[in-house]
Amino acid sequence: MKEEKHRVLYEKVKDLILSREKVCALTGAGISAESGVPTFRGKDGLWNKYNPAELATPEAFSRDPELVWKWYDWRRQIISEAKPNAGHLALAKLEEIKGENFILITQNVDGLHQKAGSKRVLEVHGNIWKLKCTSCTYEEFNYDVPLKVIPPRCPECGNLLRPGVVWFGESLPFDVLDEVERWLRMCDLMLVIGTSGVVQPAASFAFVAKHNDAVIVEVNIERTPISEIADFFFLGKAGEILPLIIPEILK
Ligand code: OAD
Repeated sequence: MKEEKHRVLYEKVKDLILSREKVCALTGAGISAESGVPTFRGKDGLWNKYNPAELATPEAFSRDPELVWKWYDWRRQIISEAKPNAGHLALAKLEEIKGENFILITQNVDGLHQKAGSKRVLEVHGNIWKLKCTSCTYEEFNYDVPLKVIPPRCPECGNLLRPGVVWFGESLPFDVLDEVERWLRMCDLMLVIGTSGVVQPAASFAFVAKHNDAVIVEVNIERTPISEIADFFFLGKAGEILPLIIPEILK
């Protein structure tokens, strides 16, 4: 009986994804958990073992760039071994179905969505494979694992390179945020997957979309503040639930 009820809900969401014009997905660390990338919060979360103030702030980097880079280098190693899972693949498939009517907003810096084939991705917290100069405009994508030199230096001006991610206390990239806001105004349905919904401003995205009449569909292994406004909440792993609610390609 319970299974039948779930099946009906999966079909209902599939239909909504097809019938609603603009669809947006917001992902967090939970979608990469099944690929072996640690999340930030929860029992085995990174912020349970490490102090973000010592590793993920501009102050921490000015204090000890070597320590910060060693930590990011370690995370890059874990991510380099990770493969996209069924959740990432389902979202790449959704992009194929909806085309320009779909956007993927991710807080993840691991690049696994792109590895799965997604192209329409807005990375609100940057990308761990990007290195940016702290002094000039130089930036590069660097996939060395481990990095050859820690801390790495700018080949153009010799100053320190930093990870191309957003740290606590920093603003989100303006161009990315502008595009996110445009989508939050026009999206008709938002999938919210594997985020604890506690880090602003991303935590408010679903609320803004809901205010603009979007249907909110959440997938998570536990309830979050976003669950309060979700029209559909699917309790379970992204890699298991997403393939059940993403429609087959229409051909
Ligand atoms: P969190 O670690 O805060 O939350 C992960 C969420 O994923 C939790 O709600 C889990 O219940 C859920 N989850 C875990 N495994 C899952 C699975 N297999 N399927 C579905 N859900 C699952 O990660 P974020 O919300 O992404 O920012 O964190 C937001 C930001 O906080 C990160 O981007 C990062 C961090 O500090 C920066 O580094 C700037």
